[in-house]
Amino acid sequence: METRLNKFVAANSEFARRKADELIGQGRVTVNNKLVLEPGTQIDSEKDDVRLDGERLKEKTKKIYILLNKPAGIITSTDDDKNRQTVIDILNIRDKVFPVGRLDYETTGLLILTNDGDFTNLLTHPSHRVPKTYIVKLSKVLEEKHKEKLTGGIRIEGRKTAPAKITFPFKNDLSTVSITITEGRNRQVRRMFEFYGYFVRKLHRDSYGILTLGNLKPGEWRRLTIDEVNKLKDIKLIKGNERAKRTHKKTT
Ligand code: URA
Repeated sequence: METRLNKFVAANSEFARRKADELIGQGRVTVNNKLVLEPGTQIDSEKDDVRLDGERLKEKTKKIYILLNKPAGIITSTDDDKNRQTVIDILNIRDKVFPVGRLDYETTGLLILTNDGDFTNLLTHPSHRVPKTYIVKLSKVLEEKHKEKLTGGIRIEGRKTAPAKITFPFKNDLSTVSITITEGRNRQVRRMFEFYGYFVRKLHRDSYGILTLGNLKPGEWRRLTIDEVNKLKDIKLIKGNERAKRTHKKTT
């Protein structure tokens, strides 16, 4: 992308724009090994080799955070060997982003996509226990005894699932449930209900941490606000504080 040299230096170093002007004027900046003294010189931020005191300035990638309402029949992947439509195809943007975790082909609802790997790790790390809520249409009414078992945790592939919260969002339909889990094991919700012989007819993710879909229709997406990104990043802080409190309790 074409940009001014001083803007590029300021954006990709620790220095503010005015200081960048000064550094360029002092002959400390080269473009493709040539000294450039004019701060307003146009450069190509992707191709040109810009150096400050001989040190290459790499263009910082702009962080992108997207919330998509995934429709059914779309694969949560960046490409597919069977040529099925992917969530990336739906976004139709030039920037490279990756899904945070995955939703099954038939699952609908809230999916975050980003190019920020640290953010992805933060949200998906099991110890951070980010709550995710799903609305599940089951093949039959959920029995109280199974609801209790699933809430407490059941053994899947030799490992107990973490405590979950299950409620009935519709008084007149006891085969539709809302389940909140804090893990992201493969096909977890389907497998939990299948364990007791319930078939999942529809699965929709309604919320992820502080995020809900609002009025986004299937296939629609929007950028997360700075406030939303910061709140999600606070997970680490909150967990850190909880840990500190527990340690404090143990030692007092
Ligand atoms: N659990 C599942 O079983 N499938 C999903 O797509 C998400 C959670």
